[in-house]
Amino acid sequence: MLQDMNPADAPGASREATLELYGLGPRKVLLADREVPYPDGRLIVSTTDTRGVITHCNESFVAMSGYSREQLIGAEHSILRHPDMPAIAFKGLWDDIQAGKIWHGYVKNLRRDGAFYWVYATVIPNVREGRVVGYTSVRRKPSRSKVEAAAKLYVQLLAEEKAA
Ligand SMILES: Cc1cc2nc3c(=O)[nH]c(=O)nc-3n(C[C@H](O)[C@H](O)[C@H](O)COP(=O)(O)O)c2cc1C
Repeated sequence: MLQDMNPADAPGASREATLELYGLGPRKVLLADREVPYPDGRLIVSTTDTRGVITHCNESFVAMSGYSREQLIGAEHSILRHPDMPAIAFKGLWDDIQAGKIWHGYVKNLRRDGAFYWVYATVIPNVREGRVVGYTSVRRKPSRSKVEAAAKLYVQLLAEEKAA
């Protein structure tokens, strides 16, 4: 279960939005239109169970998300969901990884303080004895030109989703 974002954690936030999370219902998020640049030379790593609940994350993940490790372990990965991300991007992710394939993509993530950061993510299924037991995502710093292209595409996709 994910709690609404706390205004005390996001003092710079200027907008509020409500996400409809799959299987979880609504979550109120607070948005500051401020990007935190992806740190150079770092990998941001997390592992989930088969439902997308975080089971492990590295120090860079903790630092960039703004949440404590205790808040992250056991939380749904949609704790980082930003309302500027179109649903179709995550549908593609889940379709691929549930079929045992690797997914790559650009993701705009929401921090605990309401700011955002872009990543280039590679998500792989973790297979043990022929069975998928969870997933791992490894993120790298994305190039500015790819972020700009993804941001433009996502505005279009989101508008189409809202119109549908
Ligand atoms: C290993 C793994 C990593 C993920 N990483 C992210 C992430 O960084 N940001 C994000 O918004 N969703 C991420 N997701 C997808 C979320 O589980 C979720 O599908 C997404 O936030 C959209 O929320 P919804 O499915 O409730 O609509 C990840 C999923 C998996 C399995």
